[in-house]
Amino acid sequence: MTRGGYTVKMSGDLHKTFYLETFGCQMNVHDSEKVIGTLVHEGYQQVETVEQADLILYNTCSIRDKAEQKVFHRLADYKKLLAQGKKFGVLGCVAQQEGEKIFERAPHVSVVCGSASYRNLAQMLVQLEAGNQAAAQELGSRKPEARSPLRITGLDDRETDKCFETEFTARTNPHRGYITIIEGCDKFCAYCVVPFTRGKERSRTSESVLAEARQMADLGYTEIQLLGQNVNSYKDPAGKKSFAELLAAVGELPGIRRVRFTTSHPRDFGRDIVDAIDAIATLCDHVHLPVQSGSDRVLKAMQRLYTCKEYLERIAWMKSAKRQISITSDIIVGFPGETEEDFSETLSLLDEVGYDAVFTFKYSPRPNTPSLALEDAIPDQEKSRRLEVLMARQREIQIKRYQKYIGDTLEVMVEGKNDARRQWIGRTSHNKTLNFTAPAESSLKPGTYVKVKATQSFPNSLLGELVI
Ligand code: 5AD
Ligand code: SF4
Repeated sequence: MTRGGYTVKMSGDLHKTFYLETFGCQMNVHDSEKVIGTLVHEGYQQVETVEQADLILYNTCSIRDKAEQKVFHRLADYKKLLAQGKKFGVLGCVAQQEGEKIFERAPHVSVVCGSASYRNLAQMLVQLEAGNQAAAQELGSRKPEARSPLRITGLDDRETDKCFETEFTARTNPHRGYITIIEGCDKFCAYCVVPFTRGKERSRTSESVLAEARQMADLGYTEIQLLGQNVNSYKDPAGKKSFAELLAAVGELPGIRRVRFTTSHPRDFGRDIVDAIDAIATLCDHVHLPVQSGSDRVLKAMQRLYTCKEYLERIAWMKSAKRQISITSDIIVGFPGETEEDFSETLSLLDEVGYDAVFTFKYSPRPNTPSLALEDAIPDQEKSRRLEVLMARQREIQIKRYQKYIGDTLEVMVEGKNDARRQWIGRTSHNKTLNFTAPAESSLKPGTYVKVKATQSFPNSLLGELVI
């Protein structure tokens, strides 16, 4: 593992540089940390701009059409850099989804690799370098754009039962870090591209997860976020721990003060998770439990495998917990066939649950997914209208929820300082931003924990004063 300054393997060419840009979810952000660590171990140096880089990598997202288009725009923007001999690689979900078609659409790309094949990245880099040398020897006098294209793929591993485990993760934040516990997804929700891009569901052993968590604690990390497309579908291949037991074990490690987990699927969300949060103070009082729709009819069409009643049962477990658990969710509007009545059921569900935050999306048809066969009949304008109504309703709910914290003293992890506003930035265990003022002489350090009294609330954050 590397932290801060990177360890560079001293053999080979020390001038190989790479630039990596990441799109998409936390899984992608963390995959990039592992990819960076792998490249650095192979003797590459990370640089801040495409101009400085020999190798330009994009770790891509294809969850919605817009995310996917961004990647192709970026590739088109930098095509001109091929003439300077730079190499391009597309990683992640668009790579897996589009596969070799990327070489047709963007012929300057040399590497296309899905996340299930990152284990083979080091080998692919060797191929890339060997190809470069051969091209240089054979075609030394020809312009780079005239050379026959180098095409390296990592696309065949979606059936693998192996996770991408590496000791070279280059975490960017020295205080809180991610650990992947489960990769892939077997749920096949009708709208979702993930099972096709990230492959079969596979878990790491609890032993390996705990070893990584211990190593992080030894390095001074105090907050750990367990990651997976469906963390609570976790199945220890060694059969030692359930998800709730793993969560508890990470929370009990010496030095660890906060443990988060995301994302949960309502179908697999057991009461034992709430019991663990009740029992162990380091487990954060926040659960992200995407509902997607408040209509049973739409949930069935989405193949979500639960009804609203079952979803609300899980919400009731959380509401009866000892600490007040903050609950957040994802909602899609305009799924094929969603009627005005279905939509109003989603609005009612918002009122009933009283979410602390909701991430809202317009349905976007995705390749390979079951719902692609359904007519995407709701016009974009109508999807936008529903989205706005939903966001306005949620804003009202959040205003009330945030107001309830006024007067409370909350523990925050200091994240930094906003000099212009003369405010410190903090995050609560509920995952809320709590900005605060402190006497001028207080020299607070990012990563430390302090107590703050909340004095004002906004729809998305709180303001307070340091408690001395
Ligand atoms: N269209 C719109 N939103 C989607 N999501 C996943 N797939 C789609 C899609 N095809 C949303 C879901 C998921 C979140 C990460 O992205 O709400 O929970
Ligand atoms: Fe995007 Fe899903 Fe891939 Fe994450 S897993 S990058 S959200 S498509």
